[in-house]
Amino acid sequence: MLDLPTVAFTEEFTMTETSEKIVTRGLRNVHAAETKISFVDPEGALYYLGYNIDDLVEYVCYEEVAYLLINKKLPTKKELVEFQHLLESEMKLPEATIKSLESTSKNCHPMEVLRTEVSRLSQYDPDYNDNSELANKRRATRLVAMVPALVAAIYRLRKSQKPLVAVKEFGFAENFLYLFRGIPADGEEKNAIDRFMTLHADHGFNASTFAARVTASTNSDVYSAVTSAIGTLKGPLHGGASEKVMHMLDDINTEEEVEEYIQSMLNDQKKIMGFGHRMYKTEDPRTKHLRGIAELLCRHKNSLKIYNLSLKIENVVHEKKKIFPNVDFYAAVTLNTLGVSSEFFTPFFASSRISGWVAHILEQYDDAVLLRPSSKYVGEFEKPFIPIEKR
Ligand code: CMC
Repeated sequence: MLDLPTVAFTEEFTMTETSEKIVTRGLRNVHAAETKISFVDPEGALYYLGYNIDDLVEYVCYEEVAYLLINKKLPTKKELVEFQHLLESEMKLPEATIKSLESTSKNCHPMEVLRTEVSRLSQYDPDYNDNSELANKRRATRLVAMVPALVAAIYRLRKSQKPLVAVKEFGFAENFLYLFRGIPADGEEKNAIDRFMTLHADHGFNASTFAARVTASTNSDVYSAVTSAIGTLKGPLHGGASEKVMHMLDDINTEEEVEEYIQSMLNDQKKIMGFGHRMYKTEDPRTKHLRGIAELLCRHKNSLKIYNLSLKIENVVHEKKKIFPNVDFYAAVTLNTLGVSSEFFTPFFASSRISGWVAHILEQYDDAVLLRPSSKYVGEFEKPFIPIEKR
């Protein structure tokens, strides 16, 4: 260890501080703040505001989950109906957003377009400049409705089709799928998309939520915090994994090819997308539900080939690496069977996780503390300065 005097450059940076820090690589097991929003139990359970995800996914609709996350309580029947009406009306995008989408390149990834358009939405915020708690709650609800509407509009405009208007009689998740595909969902599909959204709504201090909280902790605005989250979710080690899962499923033609394909990925030290998790020592508690949803949908659509292929991959990966599928693995099978193209898998994830992001942003404003870690400096000191002419 360097024996240097304690010279305070700023309150946060001193010479001795840099040399004594212990680095927790990847922030593994670091508790960055307290939260009451969700609990990820490493033994394989997940709770939103104290409710087990196993109960929520069986008994409530996604709107109830979004209400729970924003308002910290489950709604009464009356509150739910009002919230559903509000969400349905907020699915209408500003005309300027549609115009901007029309002039956006159709070649860039939809997550990039989503990130930019969510950022631009702040310009049309009816509560502009009002950063009160109530205005932020209204913003949170608005974004829960607008992010899926944006994703659907991005898709349709790419196909040179006009964005559609939400149908009053439809549930929220059902409307999302309708706005996206342009055809009403049948009973099995409604059930699948609703449960998919509930299962993706929140997940502790995952990377995108943490990014949102860091931005919110500087007292920046909600749109900036959600923009940070979208950029973070996009990466293949996080929400971008589901799209890569689909590429793998497309690459493997038959169950007989699975063993060799996986072995060669492992031999090349490549990660199998949709497998492994930072938090869980056992199976991700969302996997059993998504596996079930995928199976029901595949049976319903007579497309069991992809489901059987997925089961085989799951078995082979577990046999070879003793790791389990995470939320992204069967999410890919589910969305593919719902007719969603793979580059829109992560935008569908974002359209559900938005309710968790805004809940965490509101909680971070309440916590009112700047999230600003220190780092361990491992560079050099006291280098002789050489003027530019002599370098
Ligand atoms: N394929 C092959 N080996 C893996 C995988 C995988 N997908 N995941 C973990 N491992 C192995 C890894 O090689 C290491 O083995 P060893 O100890 O022999 O070197 C061990 O398991 C621990 O892995 P790690 O990378 O140190 O674990 P981590 O906590 O840093 O990473 C992860 C977690 C999710 C980034 C990683 O499992 C991964 O890259 N998975 C693939 C991408 C993916 O599916 N991401 C979605 C994550 S969950 C949902 C979400 O956030 O969107």
